[in-house]
Amino acid sequence: MERWYGKVALVTGASAGIGAGICRTLVQHGMVVVGCARSVDKIRAICEEDAVKTSPGKLVAIKCDLTQESEIVSMFDEILRTFGRLDLCVNNAGLGHDSPLLTGNTSDWRNMLDVSALGFFP
Ligand SMILES: NC(=O)c1ccc[n+]([C@@H]2O[C@H](COP(=O)([O-])OP(=O)(O)OC[C@H]3O[C@@H](n4cnc5c(N)ncnc54)[C@H](OP(=O)(O)O)[C@@H]3O)[C@@H](O)[C@H]2O)c1
Repeated sequence: MERWYGKVALVTGASAGIGAGICRTLVQHGMVVVGCARSVDKIRAICEEDAVKTSPGKLVAIKCDLTQESEIVSMFDEILRTFGRLDLCVNNAGLGHDSPLLTGNTSDWRNMLDVSALGFFP
């Protein structure tokens, strides 16, 4: 992990679960981590955890709904304006609606694809 020390990472879905865990681990390895999600307060709470505050790296929270192209574009603009670089993207955000192929609905499928896949393309 030494080669990532001081480098800038973006972790989507940073407010909970696996994404929150990835943020904690990357800051412990000295990365500057931008964590994004809709629930930005939950990411801010992670920023205040002792283990994160005493890490060699840093966690920064940005609010972003990955179904909204304008929010995604603004987030990348903010990252480049603030840090001037982005070295690693962890496309973790995702969700699973209980929407089977035969009985589910299009909006659930669109939402899952928007968040899990399309959110990273703009
Ligand atoms: N846990 C498992 O067993 C498992 C298995 C296979 C695959 N995965 C995949 O691994 C990833 C993480 O799983 P997890 O269990 O940690 O999920 P989780 O605890 O439900 O967390 C999902 C994250 O995605 C974010 N998210 C959802 N909709 C969003 C949106 N519209 N815009 C921005 N962020 C959004 C949530 O943040 P907000 O709600 O705050 O926006 C949250 O931070 C997901 O992609 C999941 O599909 C997990």
